[in-house]
Amino acid sequence: MEIALDNLSKHFGKVKAVDEVSIKVPDGEFVALLGPSGCGKTTLLLMLAGIYKPTTGTIRFGEKVVNDLLPKDRKIGMVFQSYALYPHMSVYENIVFPLRLQRLPANVVRDRAHKMAELVQVQGLLDRKPGQLSGGQQQRVALSRALIKEPDLLLLDEPLSNLDAKLRIAMRAEIKRLQKDLGITTIFVTHDQLEAMTMADRIALLNNGKLVAYSQPHDLYDRPKTLFAAEFIGSPPMNFLRIRIEEKDGGVALAGEGIQMPLAGEIAQKVKSLGGGREVILGIRPEDITVATDSGDAKAEVYIIEPLGRDMLVDLHVQATPVRVLAPPTFNAPIGASVALTMDRTKIHLFDPQTEQALLN
Ligand SMILES: Nc1ncnc2c1ncn2[C@@H]1O[C@H](COP(=O)(O)OP(=O)(O)OP(=O)(O)O)[C@@H](O)[C@H]1O
Ligand SMILES: [Mg+2]
Repeated sequence: MEIALDNLSKHFGKVKAVDEVSIKVPDGEFVALLGPSGCGKTTLLLMLAGIYKPTTGTIRFGEKVVNDLLPKDRKIGMVFQSYALYPHMSVYENIVFPLRLQRLPANVVRDRAHKMAELVQVQGLLDRKPGQLSGGQQQRVALSRALIKEPDLLLLDEPLSNLDAKLRIAMRAEIKRLQKDLGITTIFVTHDQLEAMTMADRIALLNNGKLVAYSQPHDLYDRPKTLFAAEFIGSPPMNFLRIRIEEKDGGVALAGEGIQMPLAGEIAQKVKSLGGGREVILGIRPEDITVATDSGDAKAEVYIIEPLGRDMLVDLHVQATPVRVLAPPTFNAPIGASVALTMDRTKIHLFDPQTEQALLN
């Protein structure tokens, strides 16, 4: 089912928890609502669920405006961070609970429950109580309870945040696979950019209640349109350096404290058109910089090296500005060593310091 939000807002007194958000979720897609704590993710989800009534704007499920539809009439399944399983009921009773309200024949209920339990692999646990399950198992039970009604829309609010790191990665893949197999339109809340990147077809990035980006993960990563999006997506995060566009002898360079980065070809033309002498913020991701001992675009000093296993995370200082680089596992240099950084010209981002808008895309 296609979901469309049109100028949707929710105010709590003076707080604009959700501020004029418009998005379309195509049928069968998996959309992540991503953003820092307090940006309005849960409030938006609760409006979709019918628990909060929008202050202004409309929510459409397919062709139908559902603003006034009660939660029980919306055909949604929901999973919360806390799972919210009924502790005194068995796993089986928890899973079939949503069907009890529908007065379906007993054999239909039993068949669907077993199908669901099989789907999320909790067949062997049906007689247990939630308290006798691990976090991951509880999460699966909550998921099957949300899915048993065969909802048109699945809403997930930080469903993985209570799990340990390893299980979270496993459940990430499981939920994504399940969503693709069932083809059910899904909206997933997370503050974890990696979770959003790995799971979602599309990411809605929110900040202070406002939608600041709505695009496919690789677009958001490769071509962030604002400084906020560039900072929020990616780990370790993008590096930012204050620089000036310098025109000299017909050539163009990015220059700053300890930085002299000549440009050529298409990128030089683009940067030149922004205006010589202009102060901008250069953004470059840690994987798009290489460290060498001879010459480069910037002089840097090694601050500390953090081995990540597959790569080395090298923390450096370019004058007073910290810069992080992902280097090959063989990288080695003493603390305090002077090195040179070279930046991949095809991967640089420039932002206006006032408007914080991207200038190159
Ligand atoms: N019932 C409420 N009454 C008043 N203010 C609220 C209420 N619910 C949320 N808010 C405020 O609205 C804003 C958005 O809250 P929301 O819970 O949607 O954020 P969130 O993005 O889900 O954050 P988190 O990642 O911490 O869960 C916050 O400033 C919050 O304090
Ligand atoms: Mg929340």
